[in-house]
Amino acid sequence: MTRASVVGVGMTKFGTHDITLAELFAEAALPALDDAGVGRGDVDALYFGNTLGGMTENDTHLAPKVATHTGFGRIPAQRFEDACATSTNAFKHAVQAVENGIHDVVLVGGVEKCTPVTGIDTPEMTRIFVSAADRQYEQPTGITFPGVFALMTKRHMEQYGTTEEQLAEIAVKNHAHGTHNPRAHFGKDTSIEAVLDSPLVVDPFHLMDCCPFSDGGSAAVVVSDEYADSFDAPVDVTGLGHGTDLVPVSDKADPLATQAARDAAERAYDQAGITAGEVDFCEVHDCFTGAEVLATEALGFVEDGEGGPAAAAGRTALGGDIPVNPSGGLKAKGHPIGATGTAQIVELTEQLRDEAGDRQVESPSVGLAHNLGGDTGSAFVTTMEERA
Ligand code: COA
Repeated sequence: MTRASVVGVGMTKFGTHDITLAELFAEAALPALDDAGVGRGDVDALYFGNTLGGMTENDTHLAPKVATHTGFGRIPAQRFEDACATSTNAFKHAVQAVENGIHDVVLVGGVEKCTPVTGIDTPEMTRIFVSAADRQYEQPTGITFPGVFALMTKRHMEQYGTTEEQLAEIAVKNHAHGTHNPRAHFGKDTSIEAVLDSPLVVDPFHLMDCCPFSDGGSAAVVVSDEYADSFDAPVDVTGLGHGTDLVPVSDKADPLATQAARDAAERAYDQAGITAGEVDFCEVHDCFTGAEVLATEALGFVEDGEGGPAAAAGRTALGGDIPVNPSGGLKAKGHPIGATGTAQIVELTEQLRDEAGDRQVESPSVGLAHNLGGDTGSAFVTTMEERA
């Protein structure tokens, strides 16, 4: 097995983009190649993520289309789909292909359009998203993504005493981080009062507890050992864990445990040979403020039940003991679902290269990304990156 390293990254601003999915992906992929200094002719394969193109834009079989559009001609190109964990799943396969000597240089990334430029409004997009929930038992109940995460968060509040104010602290923190990220969907600060006064979506989530619908693309260039040494600042992928849980939520042994997140994290920690205490910062899947609470607990950064108090005490802010979502997270950076996973990889890589500007974590050596797919997490992929 050889080591796999990330040597180039690129992403579009997340927000609204009224161009085709293939065009949007090219706007992330070509800067990633430039960043790596890799020519199109050097790329062996394209591992590409998209979730909704078939439902929202009648645009399927996208891998060869984006390969064509980005000027790759006839390299092997393959699409991956794993709900919101789509592009990290593509990333996992790209890394494994490099580690196993199948390819030396892989372009990996994802793209999605979820805003009304698709011609689809919030209620209809909410219905489309819930196609990831169980068809037989969950969809007929009328459950939505905000709804199912709200149920889990309510239970967390009852079991551990987590408060709405603690949840609001997470939104405030991530919006504050997002003000330093020029590619964030929302570059504006907010306050506890503004979060609590924003319209109620589903108890306990106000609008400002939720991530938005976003359009965007993200990409990374993954290379083998042999190539990595010729790059200025390679970042090594040292751990990758994937976990899958039971669907529907009612089949999970303990919904608050998000067991697949713990499985994925344990696999990534084991592979990297490090513990949670050695991670310098992380990007987690904060699709709702309550999801960030569950993530920090499942990853072992805080004890179960302590996610809310830890955020309120500033421990997860930039400058705290474990900065969470320095990019602004899904809450402020945005969530174009098929692009979200590799956007986390972009943030890890830029942070580890000390290129994150005003949101830079101080001298990080180890970064972790936690990406979730499906309602309350039926899929999790955890990635560990370290400075080479
Ligand atoms: N955070 C902050 N501001 C937001 C926002 C969010 N999540 N969503 C919308 N806004 C802002 C808009 O920019 C707009 O501001 P403006 O009036 O200054 O232009 C205003 O709030 C209203 O936006 P609108 O698009 O009309 O909101 P909406 O009511 O249609 O949708 C949500 C808001 C929260 C219901 C919707 O974004 C949502 O469902 N998010 C969750 C998506 C999801 O489930 N993803 C999968 C998770 S795994």
